[in-house]
Amino acid sequence: MRIPKPQVEIVATGRYLPERVLTNFDLEQMVDTTDEWIRERTGIRERRIAEPEMLTAEMGKRAACQAMERAGIHPGEVDVLIVATATPDRWLPATACDMQALLGATNAAAFDVQAACTGFLYALVVAEGYLVAGRGEIALVVSTEKMSAITDWSDRSTCVLFGDGAGAAVLRRANDFRGILSSYLRSDGRLGDLLYRPAGGTKIPLNHHVLDEKEHLLRMEGREVFKAAVRSMAEAADIALQRAGLRAGDVDLLIPHQANVRIIEATAKYAGIPSEKVYVNVDRYGNMSSATLPIALDEALERGRIRMGSNVLLVGFGAGFTWGSMVLRW
Ligand SMILES: CC(C)(COP(=O)(O)OP(=O)(O)OC[C@H]1O[C@@H](n2cnc3c(N)ncnc32)[C@H](O)[C@@H]1OP(=O)(O)O)[C@@H](O)C(=O)NCCC(=O)NCCS
Repeated sequence: MRIPKPQVEIVATGRYLPERVLTNFDLEQMVDTTDEWIRERTGIRERRIAEPEMLTAEMGKRAACQAMERAGIHPGEVDVLIVATATPDRWLPATACDMQALLGATNAAAFDVQAACTGFLYALVVAEGYLVAGRGEIALVVSTEKMSAITDWSDRSTCVLFGDGAGAAVLRRANDFRGILSSYLRSDGRLGDLLYRPAGGTKIPLNHHVLDEKEHLLRMEGREVFKAAVRSMAEAADIALQRAGLRAGDVDLLIPHQANVRIIEATAKYAGIPSEKVYVNVDRYGNMSSATLPIALDEALERGRIRMGSNVLLVGFGAGFTWGSMVLRW
């Protein structure tokens, strides 16, 4: 099959991680769990937690500044700012608008995308379309998540899984062989109640009962999510590769959503990609929802795991359910 010619490329990436580290041993003091249980079931050893006053928009701004500096662009040059987040600072306006003000990206159209942990891939695809349609030259995509703010810290089945962080990417029209080769996005809203926040929106507004019962915080059917994540990410890996005209053996680095090391290993196995070609940082950060992919991408670049000409396969899965994938030629 013919390899498609990329029309948009990622010029540079950046990341921000809060300094505070919460280890499994710290969690042992908070809920009935053990370091051994968490490591065996999830692969997670520690995660970063933002200070209570740290804003989702501010974390995103810090990642974005690093990406823009590396790309050699000023905030005023950004034509569109797309923020993926499941943890907005407030319902109105969009976190992207708050971040726009913090950045001084005054010439941009700014809006949020909500696709939970798959948000970075959704935002990249929207940005690609915006640029290909000729609506602008430079897009800034930021995924920023303060998962600690929607975590029930008394629920051992969820609180051990998540962490905070932000990642960013600067995109522009491609003019050579590097860039986005293919992508694939899917969702199935029938499965929404397997990973969700029951209340706090307009359906069930915040009230004393909601707060007492912690219905404004994240709930999850872990086993069902696990099975769907493996199935969906394997499918997504396969389809993005087909669309890029590539085979599993052509992949230089697989960057899967970092939710659980067992999900990552199963996805890689189904996709036929050996473990040495899989990027893993879930042990250090836990699941940072949509921020996991750009943070992993940024780290992989910094560590020399991605070089000029590398084929990089991104695969994600999250609440909704949403899932997707993208092949990048670096
Ligand atoms: C959450 C997850 C780690 C649980 O692992 P699991 O092997 O499915 O475990 P189960 O939920 O079946 O629970 C097994 C037992 O461990 C217990 N348990 C749950 N959390 C625990 C914890 N932190 N520490 C100790 N025991 C725990 C359960 O209560 C259960 O006990 P029981 O058998 O007495 O009822 C796993 O299902 C998972 O990773 N799911 C996907 C979650 C995810 O990634 N979500 C985000 C996707 S974007």
